[in-house]
Amino acid sequence: MKTLKDLNVENKKVIIRVDFNVPIKEGKIVDDTRIVGALSTINHCLEQNAKVILLSHLGRVKEEADLAKNDLAPVAVRLEELLGKKVTFINKTRGEELENAVASMQPQDVVLVQNTRYEDLDGKKESKNDPELAKNMAKNIDVFVMDAFGSAHRAHSSTYGVPELLNKSGKETAIGFLMEKEIVSLTKCVEAKAHPYVAVLGGAKVSDKINVIEGLLNKADKIIIGGAMAYTFLKAKGVEVGIGSSSVQSGVTGTTKRRIQGIKTGTDRKFIRKKGFELRQQQQQDDPFGLTNKQAKFAKGASIVGPLLTMLGTSVANKHAGWGATISGFGNVASGIAAFAIGVLIVLHF
Ligand code: 3PG
Repeated sequence: MKTLKDLNVENKKVIIRVDFNVPIKEGKIVDDTRIVGALSTINHCLEQNAKVILLSHLGRVKEEADLAKNDLAPVAVRLEELLGKKVTFINKTRGEELENAVASMQPQDVVLVQNTRYEDLDGKKESKNDPELAKNMAKNIDVFVMDAFGSAHRAHSSTYGVPELLNKSGKETAIGFLMEKEIVSLTKCVEAKAHPYVAVLGGAKVSDKINVIEGLLNKADKIIIGGAMAYTFLKAKGVEVGIGSSSVQSGVTGTTKRRIQGIKTGTDRKFIRKKGFELRQQQQQDDPFGLTNKQAKFAKGASIVGPLLTMLGTSVANKHAGWGATISGFGNVASGIAAFAIGVLIVLHF
């Protein structure tokens, strides 16, 4: 699998597909982890005198009202602070202004393009991998770098259509440092054989992770589901939820709901509210999983990493996700798919 290190990006126009899908409240970024996570790839390209064009989605855009709340402008401001250099934000996803900005770029310039899902307002062009949109995005671009780990399971124009087009025209594509790091970490988990084996899953979207959870049933000794996903999971199983600000994924119906209902939960299941601190407190009181404080602390950290890893697991299961398929190729495709289908996430050695 080609990584950024294998490319010469000197003086080239490089699209980096990042995942800047960060939580924003009242115009303020609540958590910039994903922006920070992309810095090593961006900085490497800048050090190599590349012209960096950043593409990302933010949230989901279904109607006009979604545009303002999913505006990437605050991200440009934060990115400027983190990079310590100017970031030209183009409040458009196509058109003359964007084309001119890209055409006039100098080595070490950075352009951030408005939310790729603004294109979803008109016929879901980004999410349906509209070929004309992908062609537009790929216009005058020399290299594509995939560093949007959280979006690697999506076959959208900006994650799949663009690299496919560039590949076809003999241009180079590769994964960035963040993708590489996640794959290396995940490989260690996938190949671990030790027991007891506890998998910790967090995040919001059960529908993205159901394959992984099912795969884990035969592999892990215990599975801990945390984060917002726990509420959705329990709701699907008929448990009353809705405590405080708990977030339940809507639209978990049909097959996904039936699959969740088919998963047996242990008698030691606890409905743990809120975040890690309370998780630890709860464990001290109830010891629901038989973990020591140290192990619980690790579990807390793992619950942050979990969602990212599960995304990757899901990506390989999705035959339409081109990058997922590429990812599975880091060992070989068959073992990659099998391993990720098992969905091994975090291994705790006791
Ligand atoms: C995420 O936050 O899970 C990723 O950015 C992917 O977002 P999506 O589920 O809206 O495609």
